[in-house]
Amino acid sequence: MGAEQSQLQQDAPEFGQDYISFFVNGKEHNVKTDGGDPEIGPQYLLVDYLRDKIGLTGTKYMCREGGCGSCMVTIRSTHPASGREILRSANSCLLPLFACDGFDITTIERLGNRKVGYHPIQDRLVKFGGTQVPNVKLSFKFTTVE
Ligand code: FES
Repeated sequence: MGAEQSQLQQDAPEFGQDYISFFVNGKEHNVKTDGGDPEIGPQYLLVDYLRDKIGLTGTKYMCREGGCGSCMVTIRSTHPASGREILRSANSCLLPLFACDGFDITTIERLGNRKVGYHPIQDRLVKFGGTQVPNVKLSFKFTTVE
């Protein structure tokens, strides 16, 4: 058994773990995996959690099959084998909530909004008349910020 495999086994979630933990825009969320909420099960998606459970409706959805990008979020996580930090964008309509254990998720609300001010990319899109459809703009923003 190599060192990486040994580390993987140490970091693996405990079998029978009855909750997952992750962050959304800097706030910790703990979600029971044992039926605490009857709606949340293995098929329940991150986009639905963001919109329906915690009210972050800035994350949109359209196709719900990974084609349009309107549900884009960014995820910071640790690679299970190398231990390196990974920052990537993801379509939240394809991501089961139970796969989010240990993730640090950022939605469009953290990028900027009317109350706290807009991100420079949001300002420039408005200032220079960004003309793409809204879902493409969201994808573009997250890709650019990364
Ligand atoms: S809703 Fe279209 S990619 Fe997720």
